[in-house]
Amino acid sequence: MKRNGVPHTYLKGKQVALLFEKDSTRTRCAFEVAAKDLGMHATYLGPTGSQMGKKETIADTARVLARMYDGIEYRGFEQNIVNEIADYANVPVWNGLTNEFHPTQMLADVMTIKEEFGDLKGRKLVFCGDARNNVGNSLMVVCAKLGMHFTCCAPKSLFPKENLVEKCSSICDMTGGSITLTEDIMAGTKDADAIYTDVWVSMGEPDEVWLERIKLLRPYQVTMQVMHNAKPNAIFLHCLPSFHNIGTTIGKQIYEKYGLKEMEVTDEVFESNHSRVFEEAENRLHTIKAVMYETLRDE
Ligand code: CP
Ligand code: NVA
Repeated sequence: MKRNGVPHTYLKGKQVALLFEKDSTRTRCAFEVAAKDLGMHATYLGPTGSQMGKKETIADTARVLARMYDGIEYRGFEQNIVNEIADYANVPVWNGLTNEFHPTQMLADVMTIKEEFGDLKGRKLVFCGDARNNVGNSLMVVCAKLGMHFTCCAPKSLFPKENLVEKCSSICDMTGGSITLTEDIMAGTKDADAIYTDVWVSMGEPDEVWLERIKLLRPYQVTMQVMHNAKPNAIFLHCLPSFHNIGTTIGKQIYEKYGLKEMEVTDEVFESNHSRVFEEAENRLHTIKAVMYETLRDE
């Protein structure tokens, strides 16, 4: 409907609040455009400008917003914060990224894989890089739930936390999926359907961790050699934003300080015909729209 210009203002007259304590391009735009496409109005509240946290507790903010809005999106720090908003607000609350999880990203990721291969069950997705971050964690969860094979290629110190691995492994027992953790990138990426990576340092982490992360994660950069080790028709995915060249302020700083022109993925892979990163980014809109529709529609 979106592509064909068919109106779908199914949630006309509803209102959503978008709370962002961290920056965003895709998630914010996807929520705003999806809200508008569904006939809703969205209010954006950025890291400054609202009372939340400074003069007003999370619990009070949640109760106030729930009196005015039909749904609340939150992007920020600890998972506990979005859980607390959900506890206090009697309207749907959507997690737009926390330190621990990034669930709306996963929906776009699996949609992109399904568009490519036609199915999900039994597909092998390999995450290379900081596998304890929000994207790594959520990919492991979504693969477990959908009966996919999740492999993480990372140094041991950046493997996902044991309790989450255990939880996901027990979900795999029911779905037929599997979880593999390995330090060997060539063994791990063999026969993959999708190779995924994310930034080496996430929002909210201090600049001081860059040097250590570069040392730890350089061997896990997604290169053409890695892509060729996967299945011939394997796709490359990245939640974005990505440091694949020195066209950004941080990218340039890292180059000047450490001599690296590209980080988690080479520019060659990012720009190659394996790459589906912009399809994936577009799918943020369609999937976030589906989530809002499903949770806000009348019975
Ligand atoms: N992938 C993603 O969440 O991007 P933004 O940080 O731009 O929202
Ligand atoms: N791990 C990244 C994801 C950005 C969409 C971060 O948290 O900065």
